[in-house]
Amino acid sequence: MSRLRIFEEEHPDRPLQVTDDHAGIARELQPIGVGFEQWQATQPVAPGDPADAIMAAYRADIDRLVAARGFRSVDVVSIAPDNPNREQMRSKFLDEHYHQEDEVRFFVAGSGLFTLHIDGKVYELLCEAGDLVSVPDRMTHWFDMGPEPSFVAIRFFTEPDGWVGHFTGTDIATRFPRYEKGQAL
Ligand SMILES: [Fe+2]
Repeated sequence: MSRLRIFEEEHPDRPLQVTDDHAGIARELQPIGVGFEQWQATQPVAPGDPADAIMAAYRADIDRLVAARGFRSVDVVSIAPDNPNREQMRSKFLDEHYHQEDEVRFFVAGSGLFTLHIDGKVYELLCEAGDLVSVPDRMTHWFDMGPEPSFVAIRFFTEPDGWVGHFTGTDIATRFPRYEKGQAL
């Protein structure tokens, strides 16, 4: 089940608030400019399925979103727990960073942990299949797929070359729960 926990940045062990209904999550995220919608992840795809099969299964949804919001490229992240590069893939966006464009993802299988840092608060968002998340450009955040990643996400870009992470060099991500048993699980 999707879940939002909000923390003060000084208190990673003490969430101020926990919300696990979709409407409530969207309501909390709206004031900070983060979009959170529910779509139907109706096509049976599995973590590790090839990108072209996933793009084909979700063609209608992809075309609708591209037409509505003017995205210029789309790709797929599809990772199963036995992926030999999982450690490297996990580490890529585990530290605080931002992008110079919106980061938009539609989760169609599995789950991952998006954590946003803004105005002294930390918003930890557990994303699951059906969640469409839009993080605005320049918002600092990190993403943890866990030690045994299992998810499929379709990513939408406004720049044709995809995006680059700009790392802030802070250690805040290390102080907040990782997507591991006993932490954010
Ligand atoms: Fe990112």
